[in-house]
Amino acid sequence: MGGVALGWGEGWRVGWPVVTFDIDRIRAQFPALALADDGQPRVYLDNPAGTQVPQQVIDRMVDCLVRTNANMGGQFRTTIDATELVHQAHLAMADFYHANSEREIVFGANMTSLTFQMTRSLGTLFQPGDEMIITAMEHDGNNTPWRLMAAERGMVVKTLPFDPHTYEFDLAALDALITERTRFAALNMASNLLGTINPIKEMCARLRAAGAITYIDAVQYAPHGPVDVQDLGCDFLVSSAYKWYGPHQGVLWGREELLQTLPVWKLEAAGNDSPNRWETGTQSHEGQAGCIGAIEYLQWVGREFGDDYRHLAPAGSSERTADIHAAMRAMAAYEEQLSERLITGLRAIDGVEIRGITNLERLSQRVPTVSFTRDGLDNAAMAKHLAAHNVYVWNGHNYALPVVDFLGIREQGAVRVGPTHYNSLDEVDLLVELVGDYLRAN
Ligand SMILES: Cc1ncc(COP(=O)(O)O)c(C=O)c1O
Repeated sequence: MGGVALGWGEGWRVGWPVVTFDIDRIRAQFPALALADDGQPRVYLDNPAGTQVPQQVIDRMVDCLVRTNANMGGQFRTTIDATELVHQAHLAMADFYHANSEREIVFGANMTSLTFQMTRSLGTLFQPGDEMIITAMEHDGNNTPWRLMAAERGMVVKTLPFDPHTYEFDLAALDALITERTRFAALNMASNLLGTINPIKEMCARLRAAGAITYIDAVQYAPHGPVDVQDLGCDFLVSSAYKWYGPHQGVLWGREELLQTLPVWKLEAAGNDSPNRWETGTQSHEGQAGCIGAIEYLQWVGREFGDDYRHLAPAGSSERTADIHAAMRAMAAYEEQLSERLITGLRAIDGVEIRGITNLERLSQRVPTVSFTRDGLDNAAMAKHLAAHNVYVWNGHNYALPVVDFLGIREQGAVRVGPTHYNSLDEVDLLVELVGDYLRAN
């Protein structure tokens, strides 16, 4: 299969020109995509739970472990190099998020750990009776930590529902929840089960006007679209590099004035400037090196496939931010094709219900993560059937507890198919064929 011509988008993609996305060249960057077992190629449709990594990530991590393996702040060669590497990783992530400064970047083990850490500090700002808004689209990582904080501080929690038919939020419903006591909101940027991309900028504007602090979970959005924290107008945003082609790392962005002034639980010996005051203990330097590698890969994609999107980069942004944004837009445009093929194929199978946006006119409002159910279907058996053909999908609640509870499907959950920009249309066709065969027989 060679280049794939893209059609015209809609929404923020209106007027984007047709480009060729050379899927073979993309796939060649990822060693894991070439693996086969007993002659059966591995088909990775499990990407919402974690993506494969390009060679740049592997090279960066190996190089870190070979040449830069020391703690920071010393006088000799390896420690000096390690200190510089960590600084470079913060600079790279500042460009990834389009942050104002590398001091706004905090690395951590993963999104969940960073979020629990932030509950300790943010909780000190709130009083009994203060209100928090959480959405029904959260992954549990952006749900339980805040509910525990609310219980500890005596806060009132309000849940923003989504429309169970359109799988989108109604901003009027958000307006109805906001009061003069609203102090905090935890918002999902793209659902890891439904795939919906939420209007975070509009939501943050409303919450900011009410004086609330906003914390954005961009874990599922970041692999599929450009992130611009300055444009979003949020206070915190977090993603996990292992979802966007990097290693197992969480990376948080926060407004510098908050990161510098919030109380922190830190060692006396550790520095009190951001990010040192947040990055407790010794961090994974090889993980941070891998993040640089993932960003270098994205820069390559942007330069190779993103020319037509460069003019959409944030005004005045660095070359690296422009490359990353161009890459994300090129990837998103290709992924719309994957979404269309997947949704169209699954919908044609008797009894399948897709839990997410299926309107082909609104594909720009979703990432290509497509979850489905069928009455009486044993989702684990379905996933096992696909695994027997070396096709990887997830089943169950996928940690999206608020979502499955809202839909009343916590027990059975759903089958989640999560292609990303390195998947081919042929892989999607194979998945659809296997699902159809299984459901006709069971
Ligand atoms: C939307 C979303 N938020 C949060 C998380 C938790 O991320 P981590 O595994 O980095 O803690 C995930 C993981 O799947 C997720 O999909």
